Amino acid sequence: MDKLRLGVLASGRGSNLQAIMDAADNGKINAEVVIVISDQEKAYALERARQRDIPAEFVNPKAFKARDEYEEVIVELLNRYGVGLVCLAGYMRIIGKTMLTAFPNKIMNIHPALLPAFPGLHGQEQAWRHGVKFSGCTVHFVDEGVDTGPIIIQAVAPVLDDDTADTLAARILEQEHIIYPEAIRRYAEGRLKIEGRKVITLPIGP
Ligand code: GRF
Repeated sequence: MDKLRLGVLASGRGSNLQAIMDAADNGKINAEVVIVISDQEKAYALERARQRDIPAEFVNPKAFKARDEYEEVIVELLNRYGVGLVCLAGYMRIIGKTMLTAFPNKIMNIHPALLPAFPGLHGQEQAWRHGVKFSGCTVHFVDEGVDTGPIIIQAVAPVLDDDTADTLAARILEQEHIIYPEAIRRYAEGRLKIEGRKVITLPIGP
């Protein structure tokens, strides 16, 4: 079967991008990252892509009057590279209609908390401040809300008494690097079925 072509959008250090590229390289997922796009010129994610000779593009949101115009450029790029699944990996922008229409149920995101708890920015710190005993991370399909789309996979991380927001974030990040490639693997195998708010993982076929 042809490899699923991934477009990754990232704003920062790109450790999730790295986990996805590693999983693709070592054959854990039948997919390849074909383009990385960032809204931040200095994002280390772009550097990680270039180190692997993967096209890496900075698209400056400030150059556009409206989000739609900015997203049209992103969609054009993703289509030019034949992207079949868009993966948000630390991408710090809300996804608008233009992208959602161009890639219906084909945009995934990873969030560093157990949604629907602690959506938005700094999910790890929100959970730590709240005093929960368990937090974790969530891979979900993106819809028009912020961190509200149908949940694909979650992983749990315990919160220890001597944690800081940073030590908790590090523990959660380890899980992120496991479940994001796993969600992509299931998608690439055609095993994710969306039923309303629920995402069912179909068994591996014959
Ligand atoms: C991760 O914690 C992810 O869950 C959140 O932003 C962070 C990105 O980290 N959406 P990285 O750039 O993948 O290292």
